[in-house]
Amino acid sequence: MSLPLVELDSNITLPPHFKLGVADADLQVIGEDYTIAEEGSEPTMWRTFTEAQRISTPGPGVDRYHSWQEDIALMKDLGVRHYRTSVSMARTVSREGMVNERAIEWYRQYFGALKDADISIYATLYHWELPQYRSNEGGWTKRETATVLQRHAQVVAERLGEFIEEYFILNEPWCSSMLSYYEGIHAPGKQYEDDRENLKAGIRAAHHLLLGQGLAYDAIRERIPDAKISTVLNFEPAYAASASPEDVLAARLRDGYYNTWFLDPIFTGSYPEYMVKHYGEDAMPPGYERDLDLIRVGDKLNALGVNYYRGSLYRAAEGDLRSEQVLIEGGPTNSLGWPIYQPPHYPEGLYDLLHQIYYGYRVFGLKRMYVTENGMALVTPWDGDSEIVNDEPRVNYYREHIRQLHKALLRGIPVEGYFAWTLMDNFEWSEGYKPESAFGMVHVDRETLRRVPKSSAVWYGELLKTHQDKGKEAKAE
Ligand code: FCB
Repeated sequence: MSLPLVELDSNITLPPHFKLGVADADLQVIGEDYTIAEEGSEPTMWRTFTEAQRISTPGPGVDRYHSWQEDIALMKDLGVRHYRTSVSMARTVSREGMVNERAIEWYRQYFGALKDADISIYATLYHWELPQYRSNEGGWTKRETATVLQRHAQVVAERLGEFIEEYFILNEPWCSSMLSYYEGIHAPGKQYEDDRENLKAGIRAAHHLLLGQGLAYDAIRERIPDAKISTVLNFEPAYAASASPEDVLAARLRDGYYNTWFLDPIFTGSYPEYMVKHYGEDAMPPGYERDLDLIRVGDKLNALGVNYYRGSLYRAAEGDLRSEQVLIEGGPTNSLGWPIYQPPHYPEGLYDLLHQIYYGYRVFGLKRMYVTENGMALVTPWDGDSEIVNDEPRVNYYREHIRQLHKALLRGIPVEGYFAWTLMDNFEWSEGYKPESAFGMVHVDRETLRRVPKSSAVWYGELLKTHQDKGKEAKAE
């Protein structure tokens, strides 16, 4: 097939309409101390969680709350035209369900200025900003939390809809359910002594997130009939370490755990049967079948956002998922120790995923995809003086992944955008702000919050500009 390709550098070419952008999330950048103090927003569960764990809190963020003009200027300088960020439910709506006018006012200014700068907004409705008061009531393990998301979606559509190009209802529900309630690594952490109970809590949380997504979908659609509504999942292609039946099963269970547990209900209206069997029917939320129609929004979504950081190799082991990750000694990792170039998980994993998901789910109505996050944590110290921080390995990471995405395009897989994670170093959840968890193209000095571009910002900025110029030429022809 022939695609109208635009050359971006000597090796990467993308179609002119392709959306190249950057991503972040409200709580990671905003500075929660300010939203609480200045607009009376609710504290999120991350505040409590990080305080209890004695890690850095989302309190300061990068102070986007006050630095938004400077940051928009920076984006504009870089040539950013597509920006994915979140609108925080801890800010928009009070405990009583009332609109927080001061927060809405802040978003209207911010989004208005982005629009004026010709930057389109892709708004995530839930990037883990659960208010602590809701978490005290059981958070996502409780059905009622789904209606908090519904109410938030109503408010965002009504009050901010005019600024929003596209909605992503959820971000990575695997993280906000399994990683949080079952593995206990993310907020609010494990709730029970007994791990079977934690597993059930994770499954309930996943179900209620998907239910909330169904409700939020309708809430937006009722208010904005032609809204583009999408969602974002995180994926880990899981490969078997060997051909032994035990290792193959290990990889299959991991695929179920991370990937199909979310894809299947969204697109087919059922949970993968072998996983339900594996977890045990008693682990399922009572009456869950009744919600499946509402949860099945797949064929109504404009797009599926794919977040990709890593793939993994699994072998058989003890434990609920009968598997453990195999790390190849000496293989390259990011600064958090996540494997990135270990065969067979590597940039090519992105291609594998896009291929697998598209051809697996287009029959269930999947229309198009974006890569909504992709990036690399890397320690890159700043000497306090230089104008640019060197982060060459990140440039390679981005380039290699975009190459894989391009390969997918050539295979006819409809990928319409790529959002690099992330614009600037920020609050990396349970990893806090440490140098190892810096994913940004722009360094943020923790003392002064000064922004210093890294080489990846320069590289990506050039890519963005060339892409726009070629896009203009293509339009003119
Ligand atoms: C993803 C999250 C994002 C960021 C990156 C590194 O799981 O969606 O907020 O933390 O990982």
